[in-house]
Formats: sequence, structure tokens, C-alpha cells
Amino acid sequence: MQSNGHGEQPPEINGTGHARFPHPNPDGTTSHSTKPSQDDGKVAGYLPGGEGTNERFRELHVKDHWEKVYASKQTDAVSWFQPHADLSLDLIRATGMGLNAAIIDVGGGASTLVDDLVANGYGDLTVLDLSGGALEAARKRLGKQAARVQWIEADITKVKLDANRYDIWHDRAVFHFLTDPADREAYVKTVLRSVKPGGHVIVATFAEDGPLQCSGLPVMRYRPDELHDQFGESFVLLKHQKETHKTPFGAMQQFVYCYCRRS
Ligand SMILES: C[S@@+](CC[C@H](N)C(=O)[O-])C[C@H]1O[C@@H](n2cnc3c(N)ncnc32)[C@H](O)[C@@H]1O
Repeated sequence: MQSNGHGEQPPEINGTGHARFPHPNPDGTTSHSTKPSQDDGKVAGYLPGGEGTNERFRELHVKDHWEKVYASKQTDAVSWFQPHADLSLDLIRATGMGLNAAIIDVGGGASTLVDDLVANGYGDLTVLDLSGGALEAARKRLGKQAARVQWIEADITKVKLDANRYDIWHDRAVFHFLTDPADREAYVKTVLRSVKPGGHVIVATFAEDGPLQCSGLPVMRYRPDELHDQFGESFVLLKHQKETHKTPFGAMQQFVYCYCRRS
């Protein structure tokens, strides 16, 4: 098996039938069956590139990649694992929003951020992720508390979230996977639609000196001004901070966190 150079192995193929296969719905959410809709059995994570790449194939391949990652690894054995998302929590608290703030963790996966938000008493929490397996793992870990959270399995570049729904948008290590400008544009449109005017947007990506790949997929790396530029004039950059993340295998990864307010 090949390492991606950041201490993480590409996912193993799950031949046990535990992986669930995606069937996107028109509203951007996804249903599942155990029947593969694409070529199960190939190593996920390396997209077929080149001209003529079918958009839908790419979409399903990416989802398949993430389902296989979460089906083949413990949630604390992935490179992005944090026992506690301390900086995210600090930035959320620093918004000054109360415990009834509507908070969405976009691409939250199986992150422990939601556990700490629940434990801190936040009452209106949503976790959205492309991978149903990741959400299931987080739900299991939370036990009864999971009922206090809204879970959305969807692609953030396709989903239609309620308008003016959220006070705080949080994303750690998802926006940087959007290498296609059209996907980034769709993402920003969704932020503009679903975050209330005056709302708070916290986005963390790999920094300019961060890794070139994450989970075997290519990523974008940003300086704070470049990340802010992606969002445009409707967002005011109030703070940015770098963080060195230590992976479970001891590798160091540079992240940048940007905190903006939507005008
Ligand atoms: C590197 S992990 C980060 C997970 C979590 N935010 C954390 O910090 O622990 C990236 C996550 O983004 C999800 N993801 C990737 N592309 C996505 C998309 N287009 N829409 C929603 N989620 C996506 C993956 O399933 C995965 O859980």
C-alpha cells in the first residue's frame, strides 16, 4: 500500500459489503443502497482526469472515496483527527453568539467538534457531510445526545440549505478539496444563502505551506487573503490564525483559519 507522504495510507478496499453506495437525490441529499453505482473495487481517491471527465462520475467517485475512508479506518486514525477541535471552539465562542446560535459544521465528518458543542450547551447544531458513514460514526459516539443534532448527508456544492438559517458556519478541511472554481462558487453561494446577514463564517484550509494532498486527494492551499478573496466582498475578514496540526502519525500540517462576517 502506498503512503501519500503525509503519514496517511490510501483507503483499503472494503470487500465485506459494509460500504454503502450513493444515489444522489435532486435536492442534493443522498440515499443509499448496498448496490454499487460505480466501479467498486478500485482504489478510491485518484480521480480520472482529463477532458471529457463526466461530472456525475466525478461526483460519485468522490463520495465513494469518502465512504471507503470511513468504512476502512477508525475515526481517530485519520490524518485530520483532533481529540478536541480547540481552535474551532475558541473561534465559535469568540463570536459572542449565545447558546441558541444556529451552528452548522460543514464537512464535519466524524469530528469531535459537535461533541464539545453539545457538552458546552449549544442547542441548535447541524452537521453536514458527504459521507453517511462518517455521520453514523459521530452519531454512534454521541449516543442519546445525537438526537440534539441535525444530520445532513449531502454534497455542499449541490445541497440547497434553508435561507438565512445559520448564525455560524464552520468548515475545517473541506473547502480546500474544491479544486474546481465552479464548486467553490457554488459553495460561496450556499454560504450567502444560508448564513444570516451579519452571521459568522469560520473556514480552515491547508495554509500556503501545508500539504499538497489530503486523504490522497489534491487540495488547494491558501494564504488568508487568498482564502478571503474566494468569498468576496460580501464577507469581512476579521481574524486569521495559523495552526500546526499534528496528525495521529506525528506529521505536522499547517492550517489557516479565517474568521469572516457576512455583510
Ligand atoms: C479532511 S475531512 C475533515 C473532517 C472534519 N471537518 C474535521 O475537521 O475533522 C473532510 C471531510 O469533508 C467531507 N467532504 C468532502 N467533500 C465534501 C463535499 N463536497 N460536501 C460535503 N462534505 C464533503 C468528507 O466526507 C470528510 O468528512
